[in-house]
Amino acid sequence: MCGIVGYIGERGAQGVLTSGLRRLEYRGYDSAGIVTLGANNQATLLRAEGKVSELDKLVLSHENKDTVGIGHTRWATHGEPSETNAHPHKAGDIYLVHNGIIENYKELKAELKNHSFESQTDTEVLVALVDSLYDKETLLVDAVTQALKLVVGTYGIAVVSTREPDVIIVARMGSPLIIGVNDDETIIASDASALVGHTDQAIYLNDGEIAVCRRDGVELQDMSAQPISTRVETIEVDMQAIQKQGYDHFLLKEISEQPVTLRSTLSGRVNVEDKLIKLGGLNLNTEELRGIEHVTIIGCGTAYYAGLLSSYYLEQLVDGLTIDVATASELRYRSFHLPKNTVALVVSQSGETADTLACLREIKRRGVKTLGIINAVGSTIAREVDGGVYVHAGPEISVASTKAFTSQVAAMIMFGIQIAQAKGVGVQDTSSYIEELDQLPNEIEAVIANYKEQISAIAKRYAHYDHALYFGRDTLFPVALEGALKLKEISYIQAEGYAAGELKHGPIALVDDTFFEVALLLDNWLFDKSLSALSEVNARGGHVFAITNSKKEIDAEETLRIDTKLDLLAPIVINVVQQLFAYYVAVARGNDVDQPRNLAKSVTVE
Ligand code: G6P
Repeated sequence: MCGIVGYIGERGAQGVLTSGLRRLEYRGYDSAGIVTLGANNQATLLRAEGKVSELDKLVLSHENKDTVGIGHTRWATHGEPSETNAHPHKAGDIYLVHNGIIENYKELKAELKNHSFESQTDTEVLVALVDSLYDKETLLVDAVTQALKLVVGTYGIAVVSTREPDVIIVARMGSPLIIGVNDDETIIASDASALVGHTDQAIYLNDGEIAVCRRDGVELQDMSAQPISTRVETIEVDMQAIQKQGYDHFLLKEISEQPVTLRSTLSGRVNVEDKLIKLGGLNLNTEELRGIEHVTIIGCGTAYYAGLLSSYYLEQLVDGLTIDVATASELRYRSFHLPKNTVALVVSQSGETADTLACLREIKRRGVKTLGIINAVGSTIAREVDGGVYVHAGPEISVASTKAFTSQVAAMIMFGIQIAQAKGVGVQDTSSYIEELDQLPNEIEAVIANYKEQISAIAKRYAHYDHALYFGRDTLFPVALEGALKLKEISYIQAEGYAAGELKHGPIALVDDTFFEVALLLDNWLFDKSLSALSEVNARGGHVFAITNSKKEIDAEETLRIDTKLDLLAPIVINVVQQLFAYYVAVARGNDVDQPRNLAKSVTVE
């Protein structure tokens, strides 16, 4: 949520900052700004409402050769999107950019009588607070450290001062920051993608750490100003992975690359010949796996739905295993109880979602073993869990999550198989899952290739509706929820997901000509029951688009029959159809598919 960049080196800072902000724009895009420091204590502050392209226009008319600066792309929390509320914020000689939320900003603001506030942001309170502690004898790093001791909340910040133009101070509490290092320059970013092309050597800042960044190096300290030794790591982000590569949108690219990304998820972990699974990073031995009696799955948004779908598979795979699935924002404040021998699966694409992270910490505090199902390597959640599975889906840039979902579900199914096998379930009983996992990438590839045009044509037919109702049974219920989420996120059509059997308990009252319905049906023992729900909708004048792997007769306005060899995992393929459907509806409505309104990719505020 929000993106931060900083640069101190020998090159023009404006170019490095704006190109970094473009990479981070998916994290927030309602306004953007940069400040650079030049000779004679001069600063050039440029801020614009809207996307980074608006800021680019400003930079063109205010170009300079400054070699130090900080920048920010915003997702509004306090105060509407506007130029005044855009970062960097200024107080005295200091400029500051901030991700996160200062919870006690009102109390602090009441004390800061000497600063006249221009914005409605909590961030301006923070910069004013630093300024109030920055007298002539004080170094910027000390003023920042003192200020942060008074702050309650979360932050990732970068701070500069015209009085100390050769230093950028950064600090972290709950909001990620990475510091890239080269021989003669230091680049700060809230996300590794902004470092790509500059350096692969970086320091991941931990909570409670403050860094003093100069051209020739970085010093770390804790909140008591005690030095900490620096830990430079090699980051791996591939340039190709963060470019559109000829696709119209990142979303279409990410949907289309699922065969490849899923192969990375499965690679080295699925042994089809011996019908075995080996997940390397669980940090659980066979005895511990065998001892698992309960699995709690937490996540937010699409990650939560990936968990929900996986829970159906886990209970099919492991006899006697109890499972619950919760949205992290809810669970963290509930008086929840975890049975003995629980393992918690913490599911997150970004590995930075604030609610998920808070929940993880609460679960760990209770002494429960935590495993991450994470995409972003080196992310905060990935570093705090006891073990886990990197899903290796590669960077996901489009705000709506697609390929991460597929890989997360595959990872959790592998986890289920591994528990089942540790508990002595015979290889023959898990073999159909393993065979289907192995075939899944090819099946997704075929469905995308064979049905893309048809899905696009059907999407045009439904793009003008204001409301949609998705329904499915069993494993297709979480898929219906995810389908509805995808549609609402990018098309802004109000969409509900329901268990097919629940329609008659309320939502069927909605059926009229302003609605269309997406009916999901699997060719299995529940087919006839799912068909009944569809018939009930038809009988009330519904406009049904049915998606199925069945060849049986279905009465619907539109039916997409996918030809797939898969049985157990067909819901994952049906979900890919839904992803394409939502994409084409959003395109037909002329929406900004990759950066839908009001959303952000990585939600690092509560
Ligand atoms: C945001 C994104 C969603 C994502 C959710 C959880 O809301 O827009 O696409 O599913 O956060 O994110 P995570 O990174 O934890 O999977």
